[in-house]
Amino acid sequence: MGIRMRSILLLPVLFALAVSGESDPELDWWETTIFYQIYPRSFKDSDGDGIGDLNGITSSLEYLKEMGIGATWLSPIFKSPMYDFGYDIADFYAIQDEYGTMEDFENLMAKAKELDIKIVLDFVPNHTSNESVWFEEALKGHEKYYDYFVWENGTVDENGVMHPPNNWVSVFRKSAWEYREEVGQYYLHQFVIGQPDLNYRNPDVVEEMKNVVRFWLDKGVAGFRVDAIAHLFEVDKADFGGVYPDEPLTRNTDDPDSYDYLDHIYTKDLDETVEMVYQWREVFDEYKAKDGLTRVMMTEAYSSPQMTMKYFGNGERLGAQMPFNFVLISDVNGRSSAAEIKYALDKFLTFKPIDQHANWVAGNHDNNRVSSRFSPELVDGINMIVLLMPGIAVTYMGEEIGMVDGYVSWEDTVDPSGCNTDDPINYWMASRDPERTPFQWSADVNAGFSEGNKTWLPVAEGFENLNVEVQRVTDKSHLNVYKALSLLRTDKIFRYGRYESVAFNEGVFAFRRWYKNKAYIVVVNFRQEAYTIDLTYFEGVNKKVEVVISSIQSPKKAKDAFKANALEILGSEALVLKVD
Ligand code: GLC
Ligand code: MG
Repeated sequence: MGIRMRSILLLPVLFALAVSGESDPELDWWETTIFYQIYPRSFKDSDGDGIGDLNGITSSLEYLKEMGIGATWLSPIFKSPMYDFGYDIADFYAIQDEYGTMEDFENLMAKAKELDIKIVLDFVPNHTSNESVWFEEALKGHEKYYDYFVWENGTVDENGVMHPPNNWVSVFRKSAWEYREEVGQYYLHQFVIGQPDLNYRNPDVVEEMKNVVRFWLDKGVAGFRVDAIAHLFEVDKADFGGVYPDEPLTRNTDDPDSYDYLDHIYTKDLDETVEMVYQWREVFDEYKAKDGLTRVMMTEAYSSPQMTMKYFGNGERLGAQMPFNFVLISDVNGRSSAAEIKYALDKFLTFKPIDQHANWVAGNHDNNRVSSRFSPELVDGINMIVLLMPGIAVTYMGEEIGMVDGYVSWEDTVDPSGCNTDDPINYWMASRDPERTPFQWSADVNAGFSEGNKTWLPVAEGFENLNVEVQRVTDKSHLNVYKALSLLRTDKIFRYGRYESVAFNEGVFAFRRWYKNKAYIVVVNFRQEAYTIDLTYFEGVNKKVEVVISSIQSPKKAKDAFKANALEILGSEALVLKVD
């Protein structure tokens, strides 16, 4: 039989495959969606108290839909005295009053279901609030709850003065130990004083926290973002002769109050932590076995790539689907060269297990906004990277419109990370208030965030022109670029396509995504000067490329065609190009 004959016989088979889509693996909801992070306190205030709330989120869910977003993860909404704005939880089973009621939460879930938006909650397993019933009972001498926390005797010097047990430092500066007279001992808090660490070497704590997970899964949430996971376990002091050992010095700083003063070998990234993540995944999977819906876990750890990958699983057991990939936050910024950008983006792709997805995160409530870390001109370029690289996209609320860090005076500063500097001049470098200012909906009073007289943080300057309402009706706006990217992302090329990248020169980073015989190229210029690049470097690029999406300051328009071998890229310009 000749070649021609054989291919004719094969045709119906190929056709059937193409129609049924059998050649493409089926993807689960979380593998294709965009996760949008909402910081509830700052998203939308429904009752005029100047604080965002659940009803505000419920009434704004259509906005997520408008952007093609299918899931949102919410920073904590649970009962809290707010020393760390909800990351200090007093009752894991209750909603914070100022955010609403359990009924409001249920309404939010119902609305989300109607719109097919998955709700992911923040699980804060490392610590409770010092106002939790568990901690209060511990202080009263209730033994069960005493064992929920990490206690240690102080050390007494030759003058009879008591000091903390060892040199451990809190992430938010100063000793990680706080004395309680009621107990006559110090408790460990890796974050603020109001966040006593839970003792994961106690099986009761392990079970209790699994019950917290079950409680919210029973309410229909689609998973959890797991907070501060790297800090879950400390070494077992029994392995060190019954005392928690001092951590060695990094010699990076002379400031003994700084978290960077110590190398956290006894308090961070312990193997037991990874084991705990696998156990939680088992709980998630019990739920999937019941109703078929995959529950996702995103883990927050600013760790080495080797450590980060352990959260995925170990070959035998599964862990998180999305150990957050923080390279766009920690490794690069607006001063980075194209080569440094390529190097950073390659990192996760290189280290991740072959059968897992990468994920891309450019911002969150703990880090300055993209417009500050990169530049306002690079907002679209960064969104192109986040939404079009292979893997799952995560967007922090406001990055789709290019919100800027708000100015928050020392007097108005409330974030403990800023306040704990005790430094009215340099506090802003540590404060996380600037990236938490109210979401900018419109040019109305308080940017349309609240009808109250005062908002919990000031609205950022310039909101009259930088807001959702204006950007919806402006042809070239960050929001419209974002929407176009979100739509383009549904193309098979971005779901299944392969990836290749290059630094053309000091400024221009580019990548190609291709699937079968179709391809797109994304080009981002990280410098303010113009360059001419030769895109025929990429296989399959010959004569022309056509603009599909361009950054807002770019003079190039969709459908404009350019010669591929000499394309001029202006300063900070970012383009998505179709290969002809
Ligand atoms: C995580 C949160 C941060 C919080 C800390 C302590 O890093 O993202 O906002 O302060 O954990 O819970
Ligand atoms: Mg409110």
